[in-house]
Amino acid sequence: MTTATARAYPNIALVKYWGKQDEDLILPVAGSLSLTLDAFPTTTTVALDAATGTDTGTDTGIDTFSLNGAVATADATGRVTRFLDRVRELAGSETRATVTSTNEAPTGAGLASSASGFAALATAAAAAYGLDLDRRDLSRLARRGSGSASRSLVDGLAVWHAGDDAHSYAEAVAGPDMRMVIVTVDTAQKAVSSRAAMRRTALTSPFFPAWISSTEESLAAMLEACAADDFTRVGRITESHALRMHAVIQSCDPPIRYLAPTSVAVFDAVAALREQGLEAYSTADAGPNVAVIVRPEQAEDLRDALAGFGSVRLVGAGDGARLIDAGATAAAEARPGAGA
Ligand code: DP6
Repeated sequence: MTTATARAYPNIALVKYWGKQDEDLILPVAGSLSLTLDAFPTTTTVALDAATGTDTGTDTGIDTFSLNGAVATADATGRVTRFLDRVRELAGSETRATVTSTNEAPTGAGLASSASGFAALATAAAAAYGLDLDRRDLSRLARRGSGSASRSLVDGLAVWHAGDDAHSYAEAVAGPDMRMVIVTVDTAQKAVSSRAAMRRTALTSPFFPAWISSTEESLAAMLEACAADDFTRVGRITESHALRMHAVIQSCDPPIRYLAPTSVAVFDAVAALREQGLEAYSTADAGPNVAVIVRPEQAEDLRDALAGFGSVRLVGAGDGARLIDAGATAAAEARPGAGA
């Protein structure tokens, strides 16, 4: 048996990814930019089990996947298997795997658990199946599981490029030092998955073409602001781009609204704090929770000011996905006389 374990952190986009130009390859309609966090990691072990290869009569054709100690749903397992099929294709392998994952963020609550999940799975599976991929190719591979996962391969600020399969990967960007306060308003699973909502937006929103062109403009402006180390400009683009994403999502048919009244109250409170000199800017993914960026020296004040809206967590920039155990058993097996 060959095993590998990887750890990855979620990322929160400051310029959002919303919409695919290719659903199979997971190529986005526009580029995006995010901050990889230093909290809420996913740790994933991929163990290859030679006894369940397709050459045995007992093979069911399905990998096993457990999440936070429980056997995962058929849907989640199917998504892992489709991802591993891509890894097996690259590795020329037919061996099935046992995938064990623990996730320290509430799954499905808009804290990007699919980003950390597929970044960790890509990193662990590539090692377990013996693929020698650099960070760029690992980002491209993670993208096939979930688009935003491509960015969790990167430390800190990451830009994920739109383009064809070869060119759609994430890489590091220098920018202002910042912290983020995550305000968890609700940990329930969202009613419509971001994948389904993205598709519905592309198919039914009359504003979708404008969303694509304005995202390209926002990303270009954001990259300039990052290069200029201009926190204020980064913040303004972040907040307006987030609200534009929620606007385009609300404009689809039937409509979808992810922001709850408390989420909107957090946006308002942050705007009021800005008036008082606490410079912070809000964003929210496909869920009700709000992430607020702030300069490091004002981070604790912001956390304290937002504590009444839900559970608050102050986070910073974290590392891209890393292998934390590269398969000691495999190495032992390779040594003559090491036994099974
Ligand atoms: C709102 O990466 O979860 O968080 O590619 O279909 O798996 P799939 O979507 P996913 O979408 C994330 C959307 C978002 C914005 C963002 O992270 O950029």
